[in-house]
Amino acid sequence: MQNLRYVGKNLFIEKLSINNILKRNKTPFYLYSENQIINNFLRFKEVFKKTNPLICFAAKSNSNVSILKTLGKLGAGTDVVSGGELLKALKAGIKPNKVVFSGVGKNEDELRIAINKKILLINCESESEAKLIDKIARKLRKKVSIGFRLNPNIDAKTHQKISTGKAENKFGLSIKNFKSFYKSIKKYKNIKLDALSVHIGSQILSDVPYKKMLNVMSNLIKELKLDLKFLDLGGGFGIRYNEKDKPINLKKYSDSVNKLAKKLKCKIIFEPGRSIIGDTGILLSKIQYIKKGAKKDFIIIDAGMNDFMRPALYDAVHKIIPIRKSKSKLKGTIEFVGPICESTCKFGSYKNYQKMSENDFVAITNVGAYGSSLSSNYNSRPLIAELLVNKNKIKYIRKKQDLLKLINS
Ligand SMILES: Cc1ncc(COP(=O)(O)O)c(C=O)c1O
Repeated sequence: MQNLRYVGKNLFIEKLSINNILKRNKTPFYLYSENQIINNFLRFKEVFKKTNPLICFAAKSNSNVSILKTLGKLGAGTDVVSGGELLKALKAGIKPNKVVFSGVGKNEDELRIAINKKILLINCESESEAKLIDKIARKLRKKVSIGFRLNPNIDAKTHQKISTGKAENKFGLSIKNFKSFYKSIKKYKNIKLDALSVHIGSQILSDVPYKKMLNVMSNLIKELKLDLKFLDLGGGFGIRYNEKDKPINLKKYSDSVNKLAKKLKCKIIFEPGRSIIGDTGILLSKIQYIKKGAKKDFIIIDAGMNDFMRPALYDAVHKIIPIRKSKSKLKGTIEFVGPICESTCKFGSYKNYQKMSENDFVAITNVGAYGSSLSSNYNSRPLIAELLVNKNKIKYIRKKQDLLKLINS
């Protein structure tokens, strides 16, 4: 994150010393840089400027209403995957005609909300879903714009748990099944196929699978002579979690997208999540205890896997950095672990880390995407607070959940 840096020994976010923020706020909590969010969005927009796509931020990566608001003011739409996310997007002031709805298992209530709110597109993922949309639309006497999410059977070469575009993945409809359904689509009078959509995975660091995906889509559209209003190319653009990750070359990809958009004469939609929000947030945590183990020392922090799931869920590695730097080093190996009663509640091992003591603070970095949105009440712990910094101002964008309300609910 460019807006996170040490000034002398102390870590700053935008213009604020994190030490000072910690004096007034109890850990653990999420802290985001609003200007980083704005820069990331504008950079993405600039790369695809020639195509002028509709950029629908994937709310699943971070569904905080204030963050959706910040992005909405910049012209972003939203990609939602549940009725809850849809209502959050509207609450954030995103216009329904900038909302697309993805997901393999949308239920009748959710579809009805989407139809009544007149969102831009429901990207359906099965024949049965298309039939259900048609049925609901008929009852409501409406004609509904749908997209069909396809499964292009492409290996995105990412972690298997965030790969979504291979034949064995549950997402989208295979090309073969889509072709067969397409033959009978005119029977369904209350839906209109306005788009195809595709999303092959997340944290993708090469443009090669994307180009394969464009080929598959382009060939299919040509073969069926589809006249589409929109082509929704999903998200998935990777970010650099560590020095070894090479950034994806979006410029090269944008040239290919632009060519295809011109050929098809349709509006391109993107659904980026991680690449907009991933590197904008940190999770601040206090060292509760330090204890010696047989082979390493355990640094027990107050953030748990319920607050931040990615290491436990995907073996994700997020660098942990001290709030105050020091030159003296600890000997041997340490492991940062959390308080949850699961062996997977751990956040990373380090050799010769700087000397740390109980009550010191650390930041888990690059947690803006799939951090707070994946958090839970596991072990009956309240959801933690979220704070947004802009220059030298702090906004409280989610209060810590009240423990009494949690246990009485
Ligand atoms: C349909 C869809 N669109 C967009 C995204 C956002 O992906 P990312 O955060 O990797 O950009 C996802 C996430 O998996 C998704 O399932």
